[in-house]
Amino acid sequence: MSLKTNLHSLSEKLDSLNPVEGLAMLSDLFPGKVVFSTSLGQEDQVITQLIAENSLPIHIFSLDTGRLFPETLDLIARTEQKYKIRIEVLYPERESVENLVSKNGINGFYESVEKRKACCFVRKVESLKRALAGNSIWITGLRAEQSANRSEMRKIEWDEGNQIIKFNPLLDWTFDQMIEYINQNKIPYNPLHDKGFFSIGCAPCTRAIEPGEDARAGRWWWEESKKECGLHMK
Ligand code: ADX
Ligand code: SF4
Repeated sequence: MSLKTNLHSLSEKLDSLNPVEGLAMLSDLFPGKVVFSTSLGQEDQVITQLIAENSLPIHIFSLDTGRLFPETLDLIARTEQKYKIRIEVLYPERESVENLVSKNGINGFYESVEKRKACCFVRKVESLKRALAGNSIWITGLRAEQSANRSEMRKIEWDEGNQIIKFNPLLDWTFDQMIEYINQNKIPYNPLHDKGFFSIGCAPCTRAIEPGEDARAGRWWWEESKKECGLHMK
């Protein structure tokens, strides 16, 4: 039976489960084939805590683009220490980065959406494909509230591009619910969140936001695009 045909029955089962029960069920059903991608964002930190505190056999990885904030890299180390886990860090292919920078310049992503997407592709999407290959379930920290595009996503869905089932356990969590959970459980988080940063990606492509601005306004702020990097496109 192909992976995709499991989707309907999994979706029905997950409906009555909370995030940790959902994660546990999937890691039972697909032993050794469940992976979680963390950007060290607040949602991701909640999921890491759930995995670690419940000793769930889920492999955690992060994509280091080479342009992350030092605070984000420090948070990887702090999280590993606190939960006594290892987060696998994937790096982009050296030759692809060198070719990209040689062609478009070190900050070429400011010049056009195409050049920005080319950078995201080389620094993130390619490594993601490597991390997902051969696995059955990809866990993410997406929340519906984050953007119009994300409000249409489902808790469990088929990712055609990566031929994998994607599970978004916190999809229907509100921002306040997430913050309360982080505070109650003393989950380590990026200090940039206390300096007006909301959604945090690469340093040159992320800025703090003003009160009332859209949650993702600080990402690729110079663009009018859909503000997705290609990890989560249909
Ligand atoms: S992005 O597409 O705009 O970069 P965002 O930062 O909102 O995504 O994160 C959404 C989810 O994508 C995260 O919860 C995480 O699962 C995954 N993700 C994003 N960036 C990374 C990264 N650098 N490494 C691993 N996972 C990531
Ligand atoms: Fe490149 Fe910016 Fe995308 Fe990071 S977010 S991979 S620096 S374009």
